[in-house]
Amino acid sequence: MADHEGLFPGAEPDIAALIADRPNLTMDPADGLMLEGVALATIARDLGTPCWVYGAGTIRARLAALGDALRGAKLDHAHIHYAVKANDHLAILAIMAAEGVGADVVSAGEFQRALKAGIPASRIVFSGVGKTVADLRLAVSEGIAQINVESREELAMLSAVAEAAGRVVDIVIRVNPDVDAETHAKITTGRAENKFGIAWDEAEAVYGYAATLPGLRALGLAVHIGSQILSMAPFRAAFGRVGELVERLRASGHMVTRVDCGGGIGIPYGAEAAPSLGDFAAALAETLGGLGLDLMLEPGRWLVAPAGVLLASVVLAKQTGTRRFIVLDAAMNDLVRPAMYDAWHGIVPVSAMDSAGPVTAADVVGPVCETGDTFARDRMLPLLGPEAVVAILDAGAYGAVMSSTYNARPLAAAALVDGDRYAVISPRQDIAALWSRETVPEWLSDAAAPSY
Ligand code: LLP
Repeated sequence: MADHEGLFPGAEPDIAALIADRPNLTMDPADGLMLEGVALATIARDLGTPCWVYGAGTIRARLAALGDALRGAKLDHAHIHYAVKANDHLAILAIMAAEGVGADVVSAGEFQRALKAGIPASRIVFSGVGKTVADLRLAVSEGIAQINVESREELAMLSAVAEAAGRVVDIVIRVNPDVDAETHAKITTGRAENKFGIAWDEAEAVYGYAATLPGLRALGLAVHIGSQILSMAPFRAAFGRVGELVERLRASGHMVTRVDCGGGIGIPYGAEAAPSLGDFAAALAETLGGLGLDLMLEPGRWLVAPAGVLLASVVLAKQTGTRRFIVLDAAMNDLVRPAMYDAWHGIVPVSAMDSAGPVTAADVVGPVCETGDTFARDRMLPLLGPEAVVAILDAGAYGAVMSSTYNARPLAAAALVDGDRYAVISPRQDIAALWSRETVPEWLSDAAAPSY
C-alpha cells in the first residue's frame, strides 16, 4: 500500500466522496453518519468511544459479490476460506460460519476461535511459517481439512505428528513464486527474500519428498504473495507460475488436485484504483481455471475492512505554530495501521452539521506519547470541537486484532450492526483487567522501604 499521505494533496477524496464511494455508509441530515441502518452517533453515545462498529450486512454483501464474481468466471470449484487474522471476533466468525465460509488460521488460538464460532474443522486450513508441534497436534486431532506446509522441516514434523495420531493429513505445499506484489514492504510475502513458502527452485523436489512421507497426502500447492494488492499483474504472474508448476508436477506423476490462491485483494482506502472482483476472477480463470483444480481463496481484508469503522471523539483541537492538531481519544494502540504502514484511512465526522463545515488542513492524532501516533497529516477537515465524533473508515480488517493496551489504555468496545439493529459485541475493557494477569512477588512488599 502506498503511503500517499501528502503525496497527492488534492487527490484525497473529500468527505462527500468517501461516503458516496461506500454503499454501507450514508449521511442522514438529522441522524448523521449511518452504517447500514444505524446512526453511529447512537452507538457512540451508548457505548462511548473509542469503539469499533462492524456491519454484518456489509460482510454478507461482500461475500455474495465475491461468490458471484467467481461463478461469473465459471470458477465453480472455488472455495472461500476467510483469513481469520483480519478480524477474529467471534461475531464476525459466526457470520462467516452462517454463510458457509471456511477459515484460514495461523495459530492454535485462531483455530480454536474458528471452531468456537461454529466453523467446522473440515472447513479450516492452517497456514503459517512457524506452526509448533503442539499446533499441529491440535489441528490433526481435530480433523483439520488441510495444512499449508511451508518447509521441508515442517513436512517431517507434521508427518510424525500424523503418524503418531494414526492419521493421514491432507496438505498443500506453499511455494514462494518470487513475485513482487507491489504493496508495502512489510506486507509483501512472495519475494524470494521473504521468509514464506518453499523456494521456487526447490518446489518440485519438496513436493516429491512430501509424497514419500507416510502421514501426509500431498494434494496441491498454496501461494500468497502479499496483502493490499492493487494491481492484477502480480496476481497473474504468481497464479501463472503456479499453474506451470502444477503441470510440471503432474507430468512427473504427482497428484495435484487443488491450489490455494491465498488472499491479498486490495481495497481503495482513498482514491486509489483497486482491482475489480471481475478482473481478479478472470485472472484466476485464465491462469488456473483450465487445470481441473479445486481452487481455494483466503481473503481477509477485502471481506471485512470496509465493513468496519473506528469511532473516536475529539478530546481537543490545538494549534501549535502553523499546525492544527485534532487530538482524538483513539490512538495507535487501537488502530496501528497508520503508524505501522503509513496507511491512509478516511476520516468522516459523524454529525451531518460537522461534516458540512468549511475544511482546512489538520493533523489527526491520538494521545499516545509517540509522534507515530498520527492517524492523518494535512487532512482537509472541518473545525471539530471537543466531543465531536469521527469515524475512521475501513477499519474492519487489521484493526481491533492488532490493538494493544500500550499506555495502559483499555481495549475499545465493539458493536455489530445488522440492518437497523445493533448489539454490543465487546464491552470496553475494564481498567482492572489491565493488571489482572500481573502479580507482585511477596518479597517485594516484604522489603523495608527506603526513602528517597
Ligand atoms: N493468507 C495468508 C497466508 C496470509 O498471510 C494473509 C495475510 C491472508 C491470507 C489474508 O490477506 P488479505 O486478504 O487480508 O490481504 N496487518 C497488515 C496485513 C497483513 C496481512 C498478513 N497476511 C495490514 O494491516 O495491512
